[in-house]
Amino acid sequence: EQINKGKYDHYMQKEIHEQPDSLTTTMRGRLIRGDSRKMKTVLLGGLKDHLKTIRRSRRIVFIGCGTSYNAALASRPILEELSGIPVSMEIASDLWDRQGPIYREDTAVFVSQSGETADTLLALDYARENGALCVGITNTVGSSIARKTHCGVHINAGAEIGVASTKAYTSQIVVMVMLALAIGSDTISSQKKREDIIDGLLDLPYKVKEVLKLDDEMKDLAQLLIDEQSLLVFGRGYNYATALEGALKVKEVSLMHSEGILAGEMKHGPLALVDENLPIVVIATRDACFSKQQSVIQQLHARKGRLIVMCSKGDAASVSSSGSCRVIEVPQVEDCLQPVINIVPLQLLAYHLTVLRGHNVDQPRNLAKSVTTQ
Ligand code: G6P
Repeated sequence: EQINKGKYDHYMQKEIHEQPDSLTTTMRGRLIRGDSRKMKTVLLGGLKDHLKTIRRSRRIVFIGCGTSYNAALASRPILEELSGIPVSMEIASDLWDRQGPIYREDTAVFVSQSGETADTLLALDYARENGALCVGITNTVGSSIARKTHCGVHINAGAEIGVASTKAYTSQIVVMVMLALAIGSDTISSQKKREDIIDGLLDLPYKVKEVLKLDDEMKDLAQLLIDEQSLLVFGRGYNYATALEGALKVKEVSLMHSEGILAGEMKHGPLALVDENLPIVVIATRDACFSKQQSVIQQLHARKGRLIVMCSKGDAASVSSSGSCRVIEVPQVEDCLQPVINIVPLQLLAYHLTVLRGHNVDQPRNLAKSVTTQ
């Protein structure tokens, strides 16, 4: 039943709309709400014997490819904040190319939907040889990465068929936020923050349901962009990953060139591209980076940029005060969960662009769901 398209035309479309349910399954049995006496906590069974070792590690290294790498990047800030441990990011093939340093005191976290990606597996063998504690985050029970890591967490998002990863991405982020909560759970000073995040997680499927209502709006936007050559996506902080992942979705399925850009780097090159023709999505939802993104919007407006701004509900007037732009309003959630909300309109945009441009949604040319060769 799970691999049936049901009422949908494509698996990608089905998997996008399934996210309220897949997120619920990912969290099932793992969040303990607690009563007035008992604190809210996270239970990740696959890690419980290793949490002490992880907390003592000198560094946490996230390793993955494609969408899985982006999900890890989205979770990095909260892991750093709640654990106090430095977190570094490695694209699996690049770690292997460089034979980058991995130490016994490291915790290496391997993120992979399929659990079979050759580059990630090579990096895993390498990290094991170097003595790191290896943690797997996969969607496939019994996969090579699940078997070869010392411990791990299944994301339980259900089978994902569309080559472009959608529901696995949001479930991976949720698992990594739960990982951050679990690692940080012995710190009293962040107890309130952790409880707020747990409340936010429990509410998240409802918020995703709400953001999915933007489907028609994103179809209209796709219609408007159908003949464009290129689309830039600017994000920063928690939503740098959203910029990369949104651009990856657009390019892999709709075959339109798209680039995710760290907004802080705008003045170091990308600004040269800005004119009245090139469409630019700016992610400016409410978080610690909001005022910086407002100033990015002003700078882009000053150069007559053609902007599509994603902002929190109620902020449309303030983000368009410096010039006209199209606005996508999304519900506001806890900072570290906002990437789960913000990617949804971009998944919908990529989907509709692909259908309107007449390309294969579920099997984009030249790509494979799982790349098992180097
Ligand atoms: C391929 C797929 C991507 C995926 C990447 C990593 O390139 O087309 O959608 O993100 O592999 O796959 P993994 O299964 O390791 O998450």
